[in-house]
Amino acid sequence: MENKKIILSGIQPTGIATLGSYLGALKNWAALSDEYDCYYTVVDMHAITARQVPADLRRTQYEQVAILIACGIDPGKNTLFIQSHVPAHAQLAWVLNCYTMFGELSRMTQFKDKSAKNDENINAGLFTYPTLQAADILLYQADLVPVGADQKQHVELTRNIAVRFNGIYGDVFKLPEPYIPEVGGKIMDLQTPTRKMSKSEIADGGCILMLDKPEDILRSFKRAVTDSETCIRFDPDNKPGISNLIQIYSVCTGKEYTDIENEFSGKGYGDFKPVVGEAVIELLRPIREETRKILADKAYLENVFKEGAEKASYTANKTLRKVYKKIGFIDSFLPAKAQR
Ligand code: TRP
Repeated sequence: MENKKIILSGIQPTGIATLGSYLGALKNWAALSDEYDCYYTVVDMHAITARQVPADLRRTQYEQVAILIACGIDPGKNTLFIQSHVPAHAQLAWVLNCYTMFGELSRMTQFKDKSAKNDENINAGLFTYPTLQAADILLYQADLVPVGADQKQHVELTRNIAVRFNGIYGDVFKLPEPYIPEVGGKIMDLQTPTRKMSKSEIADGGCILMLDKPEDILRSFKRAVTDSETCIRFDPDNKPGISNLIQIYSVCTGKEYTDIENEFSGKGYGDFKPVVGEAVIELLRPIREETRKILADKAYLENVFKEGAEKASYTANKTLRKVYKKIGFIDSFLPAKAQR
């Protein structure tokens, strides 16, 4: 237990519930949770860098934690918590802001993309989003950070901040490595297969949510956009739609791409699409049912929040105390060391 490597990852409460995030992230999170000491956090503080409807934000946090547990992440074995429940995240983020350069943050592609898309709300939180993410990671002295390819730059920035800080004050932070899954990392939209599957895009059936009903899932797959050929062949550049379906079917069934091509040789898209839909339905069914059960027990979930926050705070405050001491803050008013 003591020398297990440490993993930290965070997921937005509003973004977790798609098939894409399940295959690209959550499935791996669950698989890693036996081998590593895992900290998984639902990042409500990051979520408010975009305007949220308060009632929806509140509800999705319950849902997301329930989904994580239903996916096989055992809150008894791992540390599962909501970011704002551990004040050390905000506290360290402030400190790290003072060790992060304006120019560095200006170069973050996610900031550039998000501010281009939403030019009426380019708030300071959106700009300093990566320093909060760095605090998430560095507080737990994480070795590995499982993320999608789009987050690699933020993990690299985290390393740069840690190197800078350690260079001034000695070894305070462990340098984390990004851990990017080989498969499933890029599940595309079913209607616009050149775009990553995301809940924030228009509801046109292109995005599958983990709690969607089987008949809706099947309908979305039957309507998935493909090309004008008929043959089932993996070729993401020329056939993004069908390649995405092959990828999804492969992750659901564990079958290789070539085996899938052989299985469906001579058959058309009309045969293949519902088969993929059914595979997804069967993959999600137990998770959906389990999530519903967990959501029905609010007291249980709230207890998970509480225990997660306590476990996470214990580790986080250790790091924060060290940081405060190094920079010259008086750390004796931080929560007591023997909180556990
Ligand atoms: N920024 C990440 C995303 O949008 C979510 C996130 C927040 C995160 N804090 C993190 C991921 C810490 C990894 C580690 O997907």
